[in-house]
Amino acid sequence: MVRKALYIPILLVFSIFISACSPPVQEVISSSTDNVDSAILDNLDVEKIYSNVKELSKEPRIAGTDSEKNAANFITSQLETFGYAVESQPFEFDHYIFPKLVELTIDGIEQSFSPEPFQYSVSGNVTGTLINVNNGLTSDYEDIDVKGKIAVASISDIYFEEMVLNAAEAGAVGVIINFADGLPNTGWSLGKHHDDFIPTIALSPGEGKSLLNLIRDNESVTGTITIEGADIEKHESQNIIVTKPSKTSNDEIVVVGAHYDSVETSPGASDNASGTAVLLEIARVLESVSTDKELRFLFFGAEELGLFGSEKYVDEMTKSEIKRTDAMLNMDMVGSVDAGPLTMFTVDGFSNTVTDTAKTIKKIPLEFTDRSDHKPFHNAGIDAALFSYFPSEEWYHSPQDTIDQISKDRLDEVASLVTASVLKLSTNNYHE
Ligand code: BES
Ligand code: ZN
Repeated sequence: MVRKALYIPILLVFSIFISACSPPVQEVISSSTDNVDSAILDNLDVEKIYSNVKELSKEPRIAGTDSEKNAANFITSQLETFGYAVESQPFEFDHYIFPKLVELTIDGIEQSFSPEPFQYSVSGNVTGTLINVNNGLTSDYEDIDVKGKIAVASISDIYFEEMVLNAAEAGAVGVIINFADGLPNTGWSLGKHHDDFIPTIALSPGEGKSLLNLIRDNESVTGTITIEGADIEKHESQNIIVTKPSKTSNDEIVVVGAHYDSVETSPGASDNASGTAVLLEIARVLESVSTDKELRFLFFGAEELGLFGSEKYVDEMTKSEIKRTDAMLNMDMVGSVDAGPLTMFTVDGFSNTVTDTAKTIKKIPLEFTDRSDHKPFHNAGIDAALFSYFPSEEWYHSPQDTIDQISKDRLDEVASLVTASVLKLSTNNYHE
């Protein structure tokens, strides 16, 4: 399987996750929750969460557009009402314009091919001898000369962008990536823009096989890849940030986050008005609560287009801040009626401070994924985890992701668990 598959078609989501998903043990360890100040948890108002999900999901909140800015303004004004000083962290990100034309032609062959674009492939019109480079690993190029040729690579477990950069590094002028049986060749991404990318297309397993047969059976096969209209535009988004100082000399930090943008076609009630609204409510309830550690409430922009907001936030953190950050809790898709049980995810699937703490409050399963804003924090060495209902609803990233699909009980469950976890993580001896 391909390890990194950004911009994944919805149906694939289920095959890409290693979804052990045995029935979870949703057992509450009462002695632990009893020790978290129940008055604070009682303060969480699910009606407020629900009405904020409703407000936020009136329209899609597309990164870099006025609709995302409207959501940012709404979040800011809510936080100000709670009494916080709110900071906006603007940033630019690359917005990819998909090509209008993607073609593959083979000299002297009648057969027509239907290649698909990769997000972030560059435009170009390149002609060259086709050469089978197996899986396109660095080692695959040791004995082959691909200079001025088009590399035909078959997917394995390396990143698509690595396949393209390996080919470019070896001197290829274009890349054709053949898909394996059972995997559609649409909706894939190279992750993000790279100056060294060369025109890259995705071929279906059937067409890929027939191309490999052609190369095998003929001395020389010449092909042309044509990609027209692909472009990168600079768009602007922003993170919304609240910093709540600690009441002690302890300089450690606990971060809670959620992305507030949605994909273009979806009102994003579950993904991720739900996480945003729960985070707003946690911030409201904790405003009057003293903690030993600093709390930061982070509302990320432009997650859906490549985790741009959380990457910007982590990039701007000083070494000292990173060192002082004990935990990052991320909420993404936390209200759907059609998803599986509440689940924690880490990037590597291993438990950490966050998952260990949450488990003392409620036993929920642990899975792994890097497909949300906990990833840049994990990469910076911070113990980070995502909370989400899993397996995810089939209709996410679609127009059906509306308020009608949101369960108050589920919003309530995640709000309680994350609030209790934040309290335990940020208050020394809180539960003792
Ligand atoms: N909410 C999804 C990620 C997700 C999927 C979380 C399933 C929990 C369970 C997120 O907004 C998203 O769509 N992420 C992108 C990847 C990102 C790096 C652009 C995705 O999964 O395609
Ligand atoms: Zn999401």
